[in-house]
Amino acid sequence: MTSQSTPADFFDDTLGARLNSPTAEGSALPNVAYTSDAFYALEQETVFRKTWVFAAFLHQFENPGDMIPVEIAGRPVVLVKGEHGLIRAFHNVCRHRGAKLVNETKTSCKSFVCPNHSWSYSLEGKLLARPHFFGGEQHDIRNVQSGEDCHRADLLEIRCETWLDWIFVNLDGNAVALADYVAPISTRLQGYALSELRFGDSLEFDINANWKLAIENFIEPYHVFSCHPWLNSFVGMAEREAPTFEDHVLMCGYEFQHTDPARGEGLPYFPDLPEESKNRGEWFVLFPNFAFQIFPDQLDVFIATPKGVRQCRETIALYFVGEGAHSEEFAEGRNTVVQNWHDLNNEDIGIIERMQAGRASDGFDGGVLSPYWDPVLQHFARLVYEAMSAEK
Ligand code: FES
Ligand SMILES: [Fe+2]
Repeated sequence: MTSQSTPADFFDDTLGARLNSPTAEGSALPNVAYTSDAFYALEQETVFRKTWVFAAFLHQFENPGDMIPVEIAGRPVVLVKGEHGLIRAFHNVCRHRGAKLVNETKTSCKSFVCPNHSWSYSLEGKLLARPHFFGGEQHDIRNVQSGEDCHRADLLEIRCETWLDWIFVNLDGNAVALADYVAPISTRLQGYALSELRFGDSLEFDINANWKLAIENFIEPYHVFSCHPWLNSFVGMAEREAPTFEDHVLMCGYEFQHTDPARGEGLPYFPDLPEESKNRGEWFVLFPNFAFQIFPDQLDVFIATPKGVRQCRETIALYFVGEGAHSEEFAEGRNTVVQNWHDLNNEDIGIIERMQAGRASDGFDGGVLSPYWDPVLQHFARLVYEAMSAEK
């Protein structure tokens, strides 16, 4: 029974040592982390319930009353924009008989209305009415107006905070403030006028592989010379820096010597960008599954959403600077960037799915790590291991 699994069911005594030893002697996670439904269930309960997890984009919410249902750690969650523009998250379930409240994206709603017995709730989650609750034509509106206690039937709110265009939720409510969680990234991006970013386009890919393989592939540049001919010609292996990490953030970067249409040549740069950032690309993973790259003229988000132990969905969202995002003048430049992301991702997906297939083999169990390129992968494994092993 999956809910009774413990980390000891998956992690043998030596794994902690391998994850903490010098990288050349260490390893990443064992196969079971990519193949076991029980491991997946425990990972959802721990990693995805305890951390800040990306839920939706702010730009998806135009008007008060816009609602988007999502699933986080296997739980139905609904995000809603309130009257004053604040985004709230609630457990997406009616307090009466437990029907899922919102099944699809809705716009400009005045309230939540459950289709089962028409209980309604305000956009702030307060119970508004229970029709016929006290018998035929005996509605509960009277009860609410009299101020009698029916709060126990209000929707249950989930911690929800926003950073730029990205809405995160924390199901267990115990994570540090989102601003503190993203601080290792935000402090490194102070030279970028991030408020100038405008959403441009997005791509989605369904992948037959565990979400961790997509994130690991995103952060490690070792495969570039072999898998990505264009990317290798843009910045060769000798000029690439090894990825590093700080706490729950993984990071990497490089300097490029020349621009390229596929990387956004001609698109407007962030205003007042420091000289040293004008020929740099940086990328980050915010544990567990939210990542992005930033260049002088764009920011490209990459999210690997778990869809089962052997499936994930990659969402890529591309942001450009100011006019660069929408003006006709830059349409061709944007299209070339989008096409390049499409092509690069297709080059990656085949490899990611092969790594998934390889994890069914008895000939692999955590791998052999490059002491130069792979300390970041050992650290990612540690983050998963530690989040799953923590007491609470
Ligand atoms: S289950 Fe929602 S009103 Fe009854
Ligand atoms: Fe790649």
